[in-house]
Amino acid sequence: MSFPDHRPRRLRRSTAVRRLVRETHLVPRQLVLPAFVREGLDEPVPISSMPGVVQHSLDSLRRAATDAAEAGVGGIMLFGVPAVRDAVGSGADAEDGILNVATRAVAQEVGDELVVQTDLCLDEFTDHGHCGVLDAAGRVDNDATLERYAAMALAQARAGSQLLGLSGMMDGQVAAVRRALEAEGFTDTIVLAYAAKYAGAFYGPFREAVDSQLTGDRRTYQLDPANAREGVREAVTDVAEGADVVMVKPALPYLDVLAAVRDAVDVPVWAYQVSGEYAMIEAAAAHGWIDRRGAIGEALLGIRRAGADAVLTYWALEAATWLRQEL
Ligand code: PBG
Repeated sequence: MSFPDHRPRRLRRSTAVRRLVRETHLVPRQLVLPAFVREGLDEPVPISSMPGVVQHSLDSLRRAATDAAEAGVGGIMLFGVPAVRDAVGSGADAEDGILNVATRAVAQEVGDELVVQTDLCLDEFTDHGHCGVLDAAGRVDNDATLERYAAMALAQARAGSQLLGLSGMMDGQVAAVRRALEAEGFTDTIVLAYAAKYAGAFYGPFREAVDSQLTGDRRTYQLDPANAREGVREAVTDVAEGADVVMVKPALPYLDVLAAVRDAVDVPVWAYQVSGEYAMIEAAAAHGWIDRRGAIGEALLGIRRAGADAVLTYWALEAATWLRQEL
C-alpha cells in the first residue's frame, strides 16, 4: 500500500502543537494607534465612514492615550484637525496649533509609557488639502514644501513628539527634517518615513476623519499602485537620508512591497493599515458577512508575516485587549 511521503498535518493536529510551531506572533507593543484630535471640540465626534473611530476632543484624546498605554499598545500617532486653514498650512507649525497642543498634552500624560508620534504633513492644515504648498501654476512645490516641513518638525519636537511620521511624499523630506532637527539639538527625535505611500482609493474614510479639503488627487507625489520596485527605491533613499524607520502604506493590498522593503533595508519596517482597510472589514462585519474578530486578527497577522515590525491600526486598542487575553 502506498502512503504519503510527507504528512505536514502532524504539526496541525492539536491546538497545543499548532501553538508551538506558530511562526508569526502579534503582541500589543507592535501596534500603534492613530488618533484624530479636532480643534474646538468639547465632546468626541464619531466618523461615520469609520465606525468606532472618533475625532477626539483634547480630553477624550488624553483618555484614549491612557487606555492605549494600559492595554500595552506600543505608540500613538496623532493627527490634528484645525478649525482654520490657509494656503501654507500655518496651523501646522504654530505653537498653539491643535496638533502641537495635543502633542504636549499626550506627551505629558503618557510620554513614558507610549511612543508619542505625530503626523508630519500639511494636508490637514492647507485650505486646498494638498500635502505641500502650491506654486503659481497650482502645482505642489517640492522644495518650498520642505521648508514648511522643517518648521513643522521643530514645532512637533518642541511639543514633545518622540517620532515624526513624514507622510507627505516630497523628495528630500527626510534629509530636510533631519538637518533641521540636528541644527536645533533634537538629536533624539525619531524620523519615520512613509517611504512607500501609494496614491489610491483606500484613504477615502480618512478624508472625512480630517475634514479634508482636497479636490484633485495626490498622484504627482504619492506612488503609482502598479510600482513595487519604485517603492523599494523610495525606502532605500529614505534610509540613506537618515530615516530611522520606514513605512509601507496601505498595508494589505501592498504585502509584496512590504516584503521587498523588509529585504532591502536594515531598519524597522512598519505598515499602515489605513482607513479603507478598516472600513471594509467593519462594513462587511456589520452586515454579518464576515467574522469581524477573525478578519481583523488575520489581516494584522498577514501584515506582520509579510515583514512589518509594527502596524499602525485603528483597532490597536481592541486588538491589544484581545491579544492580552490570549497570552
Ligand atoms: C496624509 C495622510 C493620509 C493618511 C495618513 N496621512 C491621507 C492621504 O495621503 O491622503 C491616510 C490614513 C488613512 O487612510 O487611514 N497626512
